[in-house]
Amino acid sequence: MSPDRPAAVVVLAAGEGTRMKSSIPKVLHQVGGRSLVHHAVLAAQALDPEHLVVVVGHGRDEVTAHLAAVAPGVPTAVQDQQHGTGHAVLCALETLPRLSGTVVVTYGDVPLLTADTLRDLVDEHRVHGDAVTVLTAVPADPTGYGRVLRDAEGAVTRIVEQKDATEDELAVREVNSGVYAFAADALRAGLGRLDTDNAQGELYLTDVVEHARTAGGRVGAVAVTDTWQVEGVNDRVQLAALHGELNRRTVQRWMRAGTTVVDPATTWIDADVVLEPDTLLEPSTILRGRTTVARGASVGPECQLVDTVVGEGATVTRTTSYGAEIGPEATVGPYTYLRPGTRLGRGAKAGGFVEMKQADVGDGAKVPHLSYVGDATIGAGANIGAGTIFANYDGLEKKHSTVGEHSFVGSDSVIVGGVHVADGAYVAAGSTITSDVRPGELAVARGRQRGVAGWVARRRAGTRSAAAAERAVADTQASIDERSGG
Ligand code: UD1
Ligand code: CA
Repeated sequence: MSPDRPAAVVVLAAGEGTRMKSSIPKVLHQVGGRSLVHHAVLAAQALDPEHLVVVVGHGRDEVTAHLAAVAPGVPTAVQDQQHGTGHAVLCALETLPRLSGTVVVTYGDVPLLTADTLRDLVDEHRVHGDAVTVLTAVPADPTGYGRVLRDAEGAVTRIVEQKDATEDELAVREVNSGVYAFAADALRAGLGRLDTDNAQGELYLTDVVEHARTAGGRVGAVAVTDTWQVEGVNDRVQLAALHGELNRRTVQRWMRAGTTVVDPATTWIDADVVLEPDTLLEPSTILRGRTTVARGASVGPECQLVDTVVGEGATVTRTTSYGAEIGPEATVGPYTYLRPGTRLGRGAKAGGFVEMKQADVGDGAKVPHLSYVGDATIGAGANIGAGTIFANYDGLEKKHSTVGEHSFVGSDSVIVGGVHVADGAYVAAGSTITSDVRPGELAVARGRQRGVAGWVARRRAGTRSAAAAERAVADTQASIDERSGG
């Protein structure tokens, strides 16, 4: 075991979050495509602690189920009633064996706190042999936070809560972030001495600081200058602010890694997105979930791509995509909707006002305009004319169709679910295809055109149409007369 490895990290996440005015637990709200508690767990896991435990209370079934999905194997400790942060840590320790070494306590609602900051805290804690090391900050407005009190020599003596502080103490601008590294024995001893003799009638974890000091331990402090890192989410205004700041950081990280972002202010990139160098993001682009964009590709303006793979050199404009795989050099958009199970091959095209779902479009195949392709395989080099619909649903079930390689489907055709148009076949414009088309065949499935001469003159006499027709006939007659030298 590495000596730098904390014995445990405890993530407090039992609080109600009343000010969110939400039916879902506060720590399940998201920033950057991850829940608040998932951010906290990832930072904690980066320390590689021997034990990691999340204290849950309000909405604990939902929080526990969520953790099982995003961070399987991370145990929870239940705090039935929220008797304070000290009580929450007691609940966590009850689920763990007797610890020795460093115990880190952090919050489930502080999403921007990085693993590096936690590591600095643990390092300082070790170097100085502290009983407690407090992560502190000097925010623009300290209201609401516990204040960090120091003696004449500058050593931390105790932490006083806003509600318990005197005028003088409230004037202190250095605050407690709520994140600490404790020596396990000092933590246990301090927790054992907590009482509820305070304004909120709670067991304050912060009181462990004073107890440790009275017991002769050293209390250290690490001040973070980046105050965003210790900001918690209490309401949706803070949620949006932290989401915005996280996004600014994510966008900057990718710009430094070689992505051109034309308008960082309207570009939103989730934490799990991966961009290769020499990618281009045009304004109003939202990349969510596990989206990846390969070298040379450009996305935007106005795209929302969720869990979408964009291949090398592809171009995607004004597109909404969920779970699609866009091949290298493919072009998508504008006003295109790609749904799960869509795969576009190399150089394939999904053009304007095209929707696709469970569609496998071969290399170089093109669906340029106004089409719906659902449950279909389109072979390499095929061309699907404007307005073609794959009618995949008969009211009972979805049926899969295929169009073979280098086939040509004329505009405004309907490919009814379940048919197979072979390689090198043609479908005449306006056809409704209900049976298979053999290789090299032209399928025509539409009414034959006939002309009823003089119909407009008879049935629409006196209209502008009738007059236009009359003029056209006269003009034609005049040019015939001219050519025949009449
Ligand atoms: C706490 C600190 C305060 C610090 C501030 C930083 C105490 C007594 N005060 O105050 O010094 O400046 O955090 O944000 O610790 N929680 C539980 N169970 C409980 C109570 C809280 O799990 O019984 C969790 C909450 O879900 C939350 C965190 O602990 O994630 C902090 O709780 P909160 O009530 O917000 O503490 P503050 O009063 O803000
Ligand atoms: Ca708080």
